Amino acid sequence: MTPLAAKTLLPNLFVSCQGLFVFFVILSSVFPFNSTALSSPATGKDVGEEGMQAAALLAWKANLDNQSQSLLSSWVVGSNHCNWIGIGCKRAGRVITHIDLKSYGLRGTLSNLNFSSLPHLLSFNVTKNSLYGTIPSSIGSLSSLTNLSLSANHLSGSIPPGIGQLSNLKTLELNENQIGGPIPKEIGSLISLIELFLHSNNLSGPIPTSIGNLLNLTTLFLHRNHLSGSIPKELGMLRSLIYLRLAINNLTGSLFTLAFLETLGLQYAHCDCGTSQIMKMKGLKQKKAHLIEIQVNGGTVAAFQEEEMVVEFR
Ligand SMILES: *[C@@H]1O[C@H](CO)[C@@H](O)[C@H](O)[C@H]1NC(C)=O
Ligand SMILES: *[C@@H]1O[C@H](CO)[C@@H](O)[C@H](O)[C@H]1NC(C)=O
Ligand SMILES: *[C@@H]1O[C@H](CO)[C@@H](O)[C@H](O)[C@H]1NC(C)=O
Ligand SMILES: *[C@@H]1O[C@H](CO)[C@@H](O)[C@H](O)[C@H]1NC(C)=O
Ligand SMILES: *[C@@H]1O[C@H](CO)[C@@H](O)[C@H](O)[C@H]1NC(C)=O
Ligand SMILES: *[C@@H]1O[C@H](CO)[C@@H](O)[C@H](O)[C@H]1NC(C)=O
Ligand SMILES: *[C@@H]1O[C@H](CO)[C@@H](O)[C@H](O)[C@H]1NC(C)=O
Repeated sequence: MTPLAAKTLLPNLFVSCQGLFVFFVILSSVFPFNSTALSSPATGKDVGEEGMQAAALLAWKANLDNQSQSLLSSWVVGSNHCNWIGIGCKRAGRVITHIDLKSYGLRGTLSNLNFSSLPHLLSFNVTKNSLYGTIPSSIGSLSSLTNLSLSANHLSGSIPPGIGQLSNLKTLELNENQIGGPIPKEIGSLISLIELFLHSNNLSGPIPTSIGNLLNLTTLFLHRNHLSGSIPKELGMLRSLIYLRLAINNLTGSLFTLAFLETLGLQYAHCDCGTSQIMKMKGLKQKKAHLIEIQVNGGTVAAFQEEEMVVEFR
């Protein structure tokens, strides 16, 4: 790898050209997100649907390890489940809308959690625990869910196709597990998705072309897996994309990469960055005024500021 030759054809344009993997970041616009109140008045009956919710959680608790169960000591029969640790309910009533158990040291599986009993759940966040086993396909029955994070656990198996039923999902975080197998094509059914984090797993096979359906996607992190095949041109359909990371996979076809950059309007034609390509980069800057960072092949970052760019050749 030759050191930077720092051509300064444009004042401060910085571009590295190394081929297969691309990561670029465009300054994010903040997208709005509904927040739901987490209050819990003890009104209403504790039977029927509401009773089923509590029963489902208690059954899950009973299958976690002993230490986890003691951490969930507030989860007891007869008490208002809206006051249980990690549980949030809708303002008026005792309908569970949030389960937030991040970094609780919970050890166990998800297989004993009856997701069908929690049809009003908006957010399920169990990031940074020690959950293992597979992701049950029945998770697809959380029909209201907008936020799902199972990240930073020890989950294995593959991503169940049933996940495609979560049509209201806005953020999906399955990163930092040991999930293998292919990315199911059903991921393309998650049309409300804004952020998709599947990085740092053991995923293999191609990036499904159905990912091109996710028109509201701003963030797509697939890096640190064993994905193979060429980078699908359908990524070029993701007009909302701001952050993309594909590095550290086994993807092929740098030309495809560049073709897709072009479909995004980035106008960046080839890695052997001659003068003409740099002029195209200039066009890129005009089209995407907020582009701040490009990374090619995992290791090299091109940093853009609003009014200046730096070009690096290797
Ligand atoms: C968990 O607790 C139960 C009852 O308190 C006990 O019988 C069992 O041996 C404990 N299991 C472990 C793994 O400590
Ligand atoms: C799961 O919950 C649903 C809805 O509350 C219920 O109909 C079903 O019987 C439960 N399944 C199990 C295995 O408990
Ligand atoms: C889950 O919780 C973590 C830690 O607070 C947070 O960073 C993340 O955004 C949450 N994920 C979702 C999908 O809400
Ligand atoms: C859901 O995810 C969004 C985006 O990551 C985040 O802004 C929001 O706070 C999350 N909501 C909950 C309840 O965690
Ligand atoms: C995509 O985003 C737009 C603008 O925020 C919104 O109106 C539309 O409903 C979203 N589409 C889906 C499928 O969520
Ligand atoms: C990753 O997946 C491969 C098969 O694609 C398998 O041989 C390997 O054991 C998996 N590694 C882990 C850590 O699960
Ligand atoms: C990467 O792909 C090549 C060609 O398809 C294959 O021979 C190689 O074993 C793959 N490497 C890994 C680490 O998956």
